[in-house]
Amino acid sequence: MSGIYNKLTNCLEQIRKVTDFKPKVAIVLGSGLGGFADEVEAEASISYSEIEGFPVSTVPGHKGRFVFGHVGGVPVVVMQGRVHYYEGYDINDVVLPIRLMGLMGAEVLMLTNAVGSINKEFNVGDFMLIRDHILYGVPSPLIGYNSEELGTRFPDMSEVYKKTLCEKILQGAQSLGIKLHEGVYVQTSGPNFETPAEIKAYGIMGADVVGMSTACEAVAAVHMGLQVCGISCVSNLAAGISETPLSHEDVQEMADKAAPLFKILVTEAIKRIGQ
Ligand code: HPA
Repeated sequence: MSGIYNKLTNCLEQIRKVTDFKPKVAIVLGSGLGGFADEVEAEASISYSEIEGFPVSTVPGHKGRFVFGHVGGVPVVVMQGRVHYYEGYDINDVVLPIRLMGLMGAEVLMLTNAVGSINKEFNVGDFMLIRDHILYGVPSPLIGYNSEELGTRFPDMSEVYKKTLCEKILQGAQSLGIKLHEGVYVQTSGPNFETPAEIKAYGIMGADVVGMSTACEAVAAVHMGLQVCGISCVSNLAAGISETPLSHEDVQEMADKAAPLFKILVTEAIKRIGQ
């Protein structure tokens, strides 16, 4: 058994002492969306700090706990707060929570995040369905010993964001009259925001939005056979497109503003995916 798998089973054992809840959908809440956890008819919760060996986020605005319960009748586990590569964790620790939710029994992973928009058609407060991603300047979480218990050495990544899930989310957005763009997410390491030249380069590479999470989580999830989908909330225009300097506080504020509608969209998406 690998060190990674060992650590995961240790974490799982600790969680099982608190709850034997088996989620169908695992949801990661990005900046500003933490309040979504209130939408869950909660049956149990556990703080990351209570789980020995679990990476705990240091970013302001990111609470750290799992909430177990139901959304629209669908059994879910919600990650209220995630850890980022820029916090200095090994990439395997960054994706540990994702793998853990897979081992809890989740079949689907829904990733959410706040992003800077590179695509000039997008506005602050808009939402984007993630169709594909570019992992840039961040190592693959699959580097190193491959835990066969989790998945194969060379997993295919030609459909990371499952088309069938994307269709359901698009239909959900349409039924609510919420505009939902579609596009490509690029994950950079952060923690600094990008330079205008970097943003221009990512745009040429095919990215529509930029963020500092998500893509590595999606890779780890696909590796272990989870179905993945993701929705981004545009919290700012990216560097060089924005006329003002970027700040974490502004990103947080705009993500908070968009949160009520984002919550409605995510709830509808979960109901449709969980059917
Ligand atoms: N760049 C990187 N990550 C982000 C941004 C951004 O502009 N906005 C929100 N997360």
